[in-house]
Amino acid sequence: MKTIALNHPLIEHKLTILRDKNTGTKEFRELVKEISMFLCYEAFKDAKLDKTKIETPMQEMTSGKLNEDAYAFVPILRAGMGMLDGVLSVIPNAKIGHIGMYRNEETYEPVNYFFKVPKDIEKREVILLDPMLATGGSAIDAIDLLKEKGVKRIKFLCLIAAPEGLKVVEEKHPDVQIYCASIDDKLNANKYIMPGLGDAGDRIFGTK
Ligand code: PRP
Ligand code: URA
Repeated sequence: MKTIALNHPLIEHKLTILRDKNTGTKEFRELVKEISMFLCYEAFKDAKLDKTKIETPMQEMTSGKLNEDAYAFVPILRAGMGMLDGVLSVIPNAKIGHIGMYRNEETYEPVNYFFKVPKDIEKREVILLDPMLATGGSAIDAIDLLKEKGVKRIKFLCLIAAPEGLKVVEEKHPDVQIYCASIDDKLNANKYIMPGLGDAGDRIFGTK
């Protein structure tokens, strides 16, 4: 599936502040949350609704309702945690899983150190969260782990993606729809996204 990039002046405005190296931790977190809400809004465009009878103060009507319990949000630790508040403010009843991954600093290969998801995860649509898709290695491994658990429907939400990484994720997992706020120019020699925003985890948690 072709990656869907949010193309909107408000998103570009928020990304501009987010990318700025002078933006502090508090504002950075707020912006990650806000952009994640918009990504979630876009990702639920094709959501199926249950027809529900209600009474407005004026009359009866039938209207669509989302079965929020059919979804699970799965942030990739650490940086994916920064997106969780935003998506939960839109779908507050979704279940939550966690996948711990870090990139080996020499090989740039992802290392999985934690995996805990709801026990009926295979019945749910999973929305994976990670602000950065660089080489795509972390995304591919996280999707592999979920598919091994029997998950059939996966969407991947990120803030910034590199074209090189998107290509490999799209090839390896063509059934996974990716949503991002921006597709940037390229990776640098250290596999960081250019122009990017630096290290998302460090900026969210203030660790550097
Ligand atoms: C970052 C980011 C992704 C990964 C992307 O995590 O949050 O998980 O790198 O890179 P890739 O596409 O090349 O795999 P990092 O390893 O910095 O861990 P952190 O979230 O704990 O900071
Ligand atoms: N991880 C990040 O946090 N930033 C990048 O640019 C690449 C990987």
